[in-house]
Amino acid sequence: MSLRLSLALAPGGFPVPDEGRIAVFGPRAGLDLSALPKERLLLLQPLRPDYEAFQAKGFDCAAELPKDEVFAAAIVFLPRAKAEARMQLALAAECCSGGPVLVDGAKTDGVDSALKALKARLDVSAPVSKAHGKIFWFSGGNDVLQDWISDLRALPEGFVTAPGVFSADGVDPASALLAASLPAKLGRSVADLGAGWGYLSREILTRADVEELYLVEADSRALDCARRNLDDPRPQFFWQDARHWKAPARLDAVVMNPPFHTGRSAEPELGKAFILSAARQLAPSGQLWMVANRHLPYEESLAASFAQVKEVGGDTRFKILHAQKPRRNRS
Ligand SMILES: C[S@@+](CC[C@H](N)C(=O)[O-])C[C@H]1O[C@@H](n2cnc3c(N)ncnc32)[C@H](O)[C@@H]1O
Repeated sequence: MSLRLSLALAPGGFPVPDEGRIAVFGPRAGLDLSALPKERLLLLQPLRPDYEAFQAKGFDCAAELPKDEVFAAAIVFLPRAKAEARMQLALAAECCSGGPVLVDGAKTDGVDSALKALKARLDVSAPVSKAHGKIFWFSGGNDVLQDWISDLRALPEGFVTAPGVFSADGVDPASALLAASLPAKLGRSVADLGAGWGYLSREILTRADVEELYLVEADSRALDCARRNLDDPRPQFFWQDARHWKAPARLDAVVMNPPFHTGRSAEPELGKAFILSAARQLAPSGQLWMVANRHLPYEESLAASFAQVKEVGGDTRFKILHAQKPRRNRS
């Protein structure tokens, strides 16, 4: 069981109401919630792999807060991005009409600054410090935190983004490099794996030969932004894990800037799984265009899945990789 959670729920600790549903913001897969009344929890998780992991364990899950439900209490597992963390705290207080809100966070995710910001506005319990993090609770924040609920952000390039999504503050330089390296023609049927809020997809749609574009993205908030960012009849949107997504038919091209971490540490395994998935979905004449941080070791996975792999551009930080002839025996 999560040590901090069990300490906070001990007698005299966080006052779990006797009835009513509890909104749980941002629990990551693997987190032990067994100290809480499972049948009364609604887990709010916009990231599809985490959502699916909890759903498979029988938890009630939603990608976003239901509009009209009033909860008895809320629990926030703090995310790292400050704007997103503040928004979740404000939404948590609002959804339970100021009812008790329990807040858990790691030091590395900024729990100290969240605690300080909350203390400046309302009464907060003494924090329990354990396992490189803190847990504390407060009540009555529904009015005083409203200004932390942030709207979508408009970028100068004409895109909107949301707090917490990848590259919320501007176009990712690696994606910009990939966009500049794409050929004039991509083919009829194209997928953008890990499409985010749609930057690369908008670039793909400038190619007139593209008739269908599939955006596959794990973060429902990013995908919602992408829907707004692409004013075009060709895109189709999939809130799915790109590692398991199945294209409706074989693809002519996959374009991607794959994720390479889920938490703080680099996880090239995720990018490798994207490469496998791309190879599986491509037609024999299909092409993969991807960008990666120069230090990430993707060449071996690419060579295992494609007969032809070439670095076709890049700079000191990023490399642009082009792969073709997906292997038939790929696993
Ligand atoms: C490096 S970002 C690129 C985003 C976008 N293509 C761009 O260029 O701005 C990688 C994206 O993959 C998404 N992602 C992470 N894991 C995923 C998964 N298992 N399936 C689908 N998308 C995933 C992230 O949410 C993020 O938006």
